[in-house]
Amino acid sequence: MSEHVYNLVKQHHSVRNFKKERISEEHIKQLVEAGQSASTSSYLQTYSIIGVEDPEIKEELKEVSGQPYVVENGYLFVFVIDYYRHSIIDEHTKVDMATSFESAEGLLVGTVDATLVAQNIAVTAEDMGYGIVYLGSLRNDIERVREILNLPDHTFPLFGMALGIPEDG
Ligand SMILES: Cc1cc2nc3c(=O)[nH]c(=O)nc-3n(C[C@H](O)[C@H](O)[C@H](O)COP(=O)(O)O)c2cc1C
Repeated sequence: MSEHVYNLVKQHHSVRNFKKERISEEHIKQLVEAGQSASTSSYLQTYSIIGVEDPEIKEELKEVSGQPYVVENGYLFVFVIDYYRHSIIDEHTKVDMATSFESAEGLLVGTVDATLVAQNIAVTAEDMGYGIVYLGSLRNDIERVREILNLPDHTFPLFGMALGIPEDG
């Protein structure tokens, strides 16, 4: 066994102070690809990954979370349980989807899918030398977050993740 992944995941700790430097487009693309490579229940991919760079939107999200690192970071992701695409397919096929996040099973499927994506991104980001912190605090006001991000029906913002170069490292 290579010690690399083992050592990397053992070193994890949340980072809440980031340098102002923004994460490059190339790294963001690689992080999203790493996230999308996670397993997904029944290949349903019941999630969306939203990247937030607009300072005004970040500021509004900070008001929901009450945590300054929602604004002060190198990049901000919001992970969303997303059955919107499925609802559109539903309309065309006239097939009633058994799952959506309104059911316990649908909520579990979406939560697990989005979390696996996020954790792939977290580990890859840490391997790139960034620090990360999850932001469950966005659920302080789910309706407000849906409004700020202009989310369609059948979506649920699960948590955010702030990342960037650690201030102290
Ligand atoms: C789903 C989830 C949501 C979290 N939400 C927040 C949050 O809103 N704010 C925060 O500062 N840390 C948040 N955290 C980070 C935890 O507080 C942290 O992972 C935990 O205290 C363990 O510390 P460590 O990550 O340094 O090992 C969250 C972690 C997870 C997994």
